[in-house]
Amino acid sequence: MPTALPSPLRSYWTLDVQGVRHPELESSLHAETVVVGAGIVGLTIALRLCEAGREVIVVEAMEVGRQVTGGSTAKITAQHGLIYDELIRTAGHDQARLYADANRAGMEQIARWIDELDIACEFDVRPAYLYSESDALVGELRAEAEAARTLGFAAEFLERAPLPFATVGAVRLDGQAQFNPVKYLDALAAAVAAKGGRIFERSRVRLVEAASRWRVVTDKGNVHAEHVVVATNLPIKSPVGMARRTQPRMHTAMAFPIEPGRIDGMFLGVDEPAHSLRTGRGSDGPVLIALGRKFNTGHEADVAAGFAELEAWINRSLTSAAPIAAWCNEDYDTEDRIPFIGEPDPERSAGFHIATGFNAWGISNGTAGGVMIADTILGRANPWRTLYDPTRPASKEFNKGGESRSLVDGVEAIAKGQGGVIDRDGEEIAVWRDDQGQTTELSAKCTHKGCIVTWNNAAHTWDCPCHGSIFSAKGEVLHGPARKNLQPATKE
Ligand code: FES
Repeated sequence: MPTALPSPLRSYWTLDVQGVRHPELESSLHAETVVVGAGIVGLTIALRLCEAGREVIVVEAMEVGRQVTGGSTAKITAQHGLIYDELIRTAGHDQARLYADANRAGMEQIARWIDELDIACEFDVRPAYLYSESDALVGELRAEAEAARTLGFAAEFLERAPLPFATVGAVRLDGQAQFNPVKYLDALAAAVAAKGGRIFERSRVRLVEAASRWRVVTDKGNVHAEHVVVATNLPIKSPVGMARRTQPRMHTAMAFPIEPGRIDGMFLGVDEPAHSLRTGRGSDGPVLIALGRKFNTGHEADVAAGFAELEAWINRSLTSAAPIAAWCNEDYDTEDRIPFIGEPDPERSAGFHIATGFNAWGISNGTAGGVMIADTILGRANPWRTLYDPTRPASKEFNKGGESRSLVDGVEAIAKGQGGVIDRDGEEIAVWRDDQGQTTELSAKCTHKGCIVTWNNAAHTWDCPCHGSIFSAKGEVLHGPARKNLQPATKE
């Protein structure tokens, strides 16, 4: 029997971290660059610009580092699943080499800052392993090891992974690392502030528009700048739409106490459902961070069942301990598995930069991409522009949209503490019943482009099945591309 999920769902990395909080934006300010979003991309750009003596403002809707980056497994690795063999075949060896080089450079930048700034973020060098439990995928693991070697990785094929359950093959890559991403980003933010950059939290951007300079509008104040970087996972605004070129998806993520030495390294299964494993340093001993199966955001009617499935697998395979944290993480996939980073329309929207589609590998790609955007602003050459080029041809049908999975016949079908979507005279209404049974009714139309939201019965959020916006049970926007809260229902 699965235990009750820790409540509320919250990333392990956000528990017990202090971090200095930054003020809210209060007035109208000017800077050379404004960065929207204080995750790994935004803060990498900000610190690189500050190091070059440039003026930068970072505006964050919530708190530094506690959203997408703070929900990641925070593996600092260039081993991104079965990718290099595929990239060589689909994009060519040169492009695969660029991808490998960019991610190695991103990893090196992280390690350099941790060293130079003396950041206490539980940074540990560890080997990374891909593994399979099924004979059918051994050939692909061998091919991946071979492909990685042609790109300069010392990748080694093993007959089994060093895990306490049966595996039939693995690819080992030494010299990778892991850390606590929230502690890392809190330190980057502190370094930005120490070098004259300004960071504003709890200041959600509602509008980005071209004026004589770029104008970023929040509820609390505005920023004008020559360069604007929208680093909000999926851009909340872009002159070239990224929503149909990317597919939002989530993983169930959990943390468990684990006995020392039970696993050593970072692991990623290549079977379905794939599991991702690593350890971290908890205050009472090692902690296991585990990801369960992937699902498209808002396409899953019973996310809680996914957590139960993950917990049962962990209990069978690694530890019988109860979870100490559980959360859903979200990222966006791209068709070619390469992010879109840079200026999406340099002719007509010069100075407008985006970064999206990290395919779950935003720590290294996000750092490399952040360095690249900073180089563009600084007028420096950078080798990754053709790799990440957001203007490259891409299917606009990669994202197929989706429908709400939470339609119910009436309010009485919704349990206390849960939500559902009802049809009232042709209006779809998102109904949340709190633990006392009181209901909150809102329009179920996502405020991005009107798709009907799905109730996430584990996170207790409304998740959009089209482009991945997330709203609280009360309808407040937590994650874009939506910029507005769910609206009141019109039919009573
Ligand atoms: Fe685009 Fe909801 S996120 S319609």
